[in-house]
Amino acid sequence: MRNFKNILVTGGAGFIGSNFIHYLFEKTSFKGNIINVDKLTYAGNLNNLKNIEDKLGNRYFFEHIDICDKEGIDKIFQDHSIDCVVHFAAESHVDRSILGPKEFIDTNILGTFNLLEVARKYWLNDNKSGKDFLFHHISTDEVFGSLGETGYFYEDTAYDPRSPYSASKASSDHLVKAYYHTYGLPITISNSTNNYGAYQFPEKLLPVMIGNIVNEKKLPVYGDGKNIRDWLFVEDHCSAILKIIQKGTIGETYNVGGENEWTNIDLINVLCEKIAKIKNKNAEHYKELITFVKDRSGHDRRYAINCDKLKNELGWKQSVNFSEGLDLTIDWYLNNQKWIDDIKNESYRDWIKANYENR
Ligand code: NAD
Ligand code: DAU
Repeated sequence: MRNFKNILVTGGAGFIGSNFIHYLFEKTSFKGNIINVDKLTYAGNLNNLKNIEDKLGNRYFFEHIDICDKEGIDKIFQDHSIDCVVHFAAESHVDRSILGPKEFIDTNILGTFNLLEVARKYWLNDNKSGKDFLFHHISTDEVFGSLGETGYFYEDTAYDPRSPYSASKASSDHLVKAYYHTYGLPITISNSTNNYGAYQFPEKLLPVMIGNIVNEKKLPVYGDGKNIRDWLFVEDHCSAILKIIQKGTIGETYNVGGENEWTNIDLINVLCEKIAKIKNKNAEHYKELITFVKDRSGHDRRYAINCDKLKNELGWKQSVNFSEGLDLTIDWYLNNQKWIDDIKNESYRDWIKANYENR
């Protein structure tokens, strides 16, 4: 088993990255240091890590750097003797990639390329100790395209990305694999399904819907609402990543999924029912807020992943069922209004207004 001392987490101020930092420090016996490199785009939020900063100042370091900044990243590797990279940093929202793909190309492709270059040079020249070194790349099931009513994505399913977001992630996956095959850089990759849980930026389906139900605003459902996503509790994604960086086979890809497919409309109905119970209201009252709006361009119909490799090879399993995970998530959003208020700055409001409210 590999045990790393100095883990560089990119994008650690975002949704999954910050959950991963909490998970490592609070739920595992991890004894090393974490260096969180984040550009703090609209999606980066240091409030996600406030208590970590307060409690673990001697093992947690934040560096406000763009992954495209070669000198900056190089210095991080040198200063912190990085032995593992867990690369979350990305532009992550499909709708935004449709409206403006450039940042997706810059960060997801060029940023990953830059990280790989610095990691390769450091691994070759500087990390002479002979100890383990790993570059773990976080990716998505969206690289595999869209499924019909049956079938699953496997690790060896051919890539068929459809949106600028998924195309940029596919490109980064290919680069990471190329650095393994060409230069021997020790890498692993994980492709995960839709995550849900605490600290997710309120532009993604679950936090948008929870917020709008509570505030009795319209619930914008794209198209006919029958698109299917496979939902995975974010902490279970984090436990999968830890298993892969510790025990995954170098050069390999692992699919991570919730084995938990829902049409968007069914899921929104469940959210209405759960929140109605908490608020002592009639669920029908909330369901009346459901509004079918213009579909997302190129909207992938169904994602579903086979994650037997992760389960069988690495012994991964999920810790919560979907109903428990949803309850935890709803509770978190209801109890963290200040977190939501703090990020609802001007640019957030403009984005929501332009994209959701006027439909
Ligand atoms: P997010 O948008 O919540 O967070 C992204 C983080 O990256 C932010 O903190 C942002 O400031 C940072 N960042 C963006 N550009 C940067 C740059 N150039 N340099 C440094 N930092 C930068 O994203 P997320 O939902 O937490 O997703 C994390 C990763 O997981 C992404 O690679 C995404 O493709 C992948 N993923 C997400 C999901 C999901 O359901 N959210 C599922 C599968 C895979
Ligand atoms: O599958 C993994 C991917 O999941 C990740 O790679 C992405 O980073 C992440 O953003 C997520 O992508 P999706 O596009 O699936 O997530 P999103 O929350 O944007 O949408 C989920 C589904 O809900 C999708 O079918 C579109 C629909 N939707 C979304 C929003 C925000 C709506 O119907 N209404 C909405 O308001």
